[in-house]
Amino acid sequence: MDKIRNVLVISYSQSGQLHEITDNFIQPLQDVDIDRIKYDPVDPYPFPWTSAAFFDTMPESVLEKPVPLKKISYKYSKYDLVIFAYQPWYLSPSIPATSLLSDKEFLARIEKTPVITLIGSRNMWLNSQESVKSRIIEAGGIIVANLPFADRNQNQISAITILHWMLSGRKVRKYRFLPLPGVSDKDIFAAKDFGKILNLAIYMNDLTKLQDEFVASGFIDLTAEIIFIEKKAKRLFRIWAAIISKYSKTQTRRRLLISAYKYYLFTALFIIAPIVMLFYKLLIIPFTLKRINREKQVYLRQIDSKCPYI
Ligand SMILES: Cc1cc2nc3c(=O)[nH]c(=O)nc-3n(C[C@H](O)[C@H](O)[C@H](O)COP(=O)(O)O)c2cc1C
Repeated sequence: MDKIRNVLVISYSQSGQLHEITDNFIQPLQDVDIDRIKYDPVDPYPFPWTSAAFFDTMPESVLEKPVPLKKISYKYSKYDLVIFAYQPWYLSPSIPATSLLSDKEFLARIEKTPVITLIGSRNMWLNSQESVKSRIIEAGGIIVANLPFADRNQNQISAITILHWMLSGRKVRKYRFLPLPGVSDKDIFAAKDFGKILNLAIYMNDLTKLQDEFVASGFIDLTAEIIFIEKKAKRLFRIWAAIISKYSKTQTRRRLLISAYKYYLFTALFIIAPIVMLFYKLLIIPFTLKRINREKQVYLRQIDSKCPYI
């Protein structure tokens, strides 16, 4: 492998959380020329979100419809390593991330190039990573590591707190007693530790063990509950997205369908999921532990057959 000299580091963030994770991750890198890019869509997504806009982005997120991005000025036409940081929206890459992954100039820069993906999520990044992975592989990129950051609080609690954050624009405690939303300060800071691991790998000129080291740290939290929910939910999101995009002939119709989706989402998240999870934990998990652990390893280590792991 050629010595790594030029590194492209690229992220989009509304609140600044993902930029901070990314900046911490690259802080320990020495002796490399870093091209740090923060990209944006031409028409910005609102932050704080209005409730209407927040739910209205579901169909286009799930259908992975790109939007125009502001012109990106790259320092080089090729890099020795690309660090691509993104966030999931509705179990899919965020629309800005999808747009970047559809951009010819960016795709040309990941061709035949090692890529590290960083994720700043609530706690559900599995489906979006499958999508990102296949787009990177299709463009000829080589994924060498994936480091997801997530909110470690209980699933329903983190949904309430993140919604409060997204709709208010303030990363504060809802009702004063709920936990802070999003990725914890401690985990955001810990990105530096992984940057040190990357720095050593660059020094040794060997990225092949990077993902094993990230996984061995025990930092990446992945529960059977999240695997279970993500598997079921994406299929349902796809159905909703297809219905909404097909039947929204007028704005009024679209608003009505988005509103129906919103109530479905709240019912699924706060009523159906807890009941189903209770049965799943009592009756299924004890008998399928081995399979679940195998699946977990595949997600953590990015080692499925589609992924050329160097
Ligand atoms: C419209 C929308 C949908 C989201 N959907 C998901 C999701 O499916 N899974 C997840 O883990 N986080 C989800 N999040 C949280 C984001 O991935 C991200 O963590 C949060 O928006 C902060 O990112 P920022 O750095 O862009 O501010 C969603 C956020 C938004 C705004």
